[in-house]
Amino acid sequence: MMELTGRVAVVTGAGRGLGRAHALLLASLGAAVVVNDLGGGLDGSGGSAETAESVVAEITLAGGIAVANADSVATSAGGAEIVGTALREFGRVDIVVNNAGTTGGLVGFGDLDDERLMSVLGSHLIGCFNVSRAAWGPMVAQGYGRIVNTTSGVGLFGMGKGVAYAAAKMGIVGLTRSLAVEGEVSGIKVNAIAPIAATRMAGTVFGALDEHLDPARVSPVVAYLAHADCPVTGRVISVGGGRVGEVFLGAARGYFNADLTPDDVRENFDTALDHTDFVLPLDAMDEVGITATMHGLSGI
Ligand SMILES: NC(=O)c1ccc[n+]([C@@H]2O[C@H](COP(=O)([O-])OP(=O)(O)OC[C@H]3O[C@@H](n4cnc5c(N)ncnc54)[C@H](O)[C@@H]3O)[C@@H](O)[C@H]2O)c1
Repeated sequence: MMELTGRVAVVTGAGRGLGRAHALLLASLGAAVVVNDLGGGLDGSGGSAETAESVVAEITLAGGIAVANADSVATSAGGAEIVGTALREFGRVDIVVNNAGTTGGLVGFGDLDDERLMSVLGSHLIGCFNVSRAAWGPMVAQGYGRIVNTTSGVGLFGMGKGVAYAAAKMGIVGLTRSLAVEGEVSGIKVNAIAPIAATRMAGTVFGALDEHLDPARVSPVVAYLAHADCPVTGRVISVGGGRVGEVFLGAARGYFNADLTPDDVRENFDTALDHTDFVLPLDAMDEVGITATMHGLSGI
């Protein structure tokens, strides 16, 4: 059976919904867990330490090890304090699950004011930076780490009235893929989940599917990506209601003409959009390699 005994995990936004389910599972597998949650409203307002503390009480009652933290991930001081709690209380940090965030309410693009935009980018995207940056030094020093970020189908595939949230969530994909490349030499693996679960944030959006979307059906993927056995880095795994499947970014091999003209583009656009012949680049230079091949170069 998979175990995390001796590992120290930080789970952000772990007072409710998905984060709570992740924290409960990681603790039940033996990890010591920092349960972080600002305890605020869905719009990001307010805050209460009780939200994180109630999950710590659940973990402790079940015989697990956990400590609460109520700092916001949206500031670098908050990120440092969240990771600092793990280092102070448990002496190390092996796992960071970046899960916290608020939607700020979904509004049309014309109504997206600065305050709402910064609150959504702050809690999701900047929050991932803040907590991961604080954990990076200790992880590099120990030559080991697992970071599990949380993106969303809204970011990956789009949704009306969700532009700020979608941009934050797709930003997290960029962060995940590039940090994975950087972390490789230090034994740090960085992946992301795109969850689907019935939570406060999701509200009634999933309709009749709700009864199948217990957040606990997402957490097993987080546990595997957080485990030493995790075989991948830089990947995005969609998970919800018991289904698990990778979401991947491909590049069509496309059309090639070294003397490309606008008319040429118009006449051959179907070939450029044809998905039957594609590659799955692992980083940016892999994609540049497609063009290199067409110019007769084998490697760049
Ligand atoms: N529920 C879904 O179907 C779904 C789908 C895609 C992505 N997600 C993502 O999953 C994550 C968890 O969402 P959820 O559905 O469990 O929502 P939720 O609202 O139930 O839980 C989010 C938690 O994050 C906390 N939080 C918010 N801002 C914070 C901050 N600045 N610092 C610390 N804690 C903060 C909140 O207090 C809350 O307890 C989010 O990143 C969300 O965008 C959820």
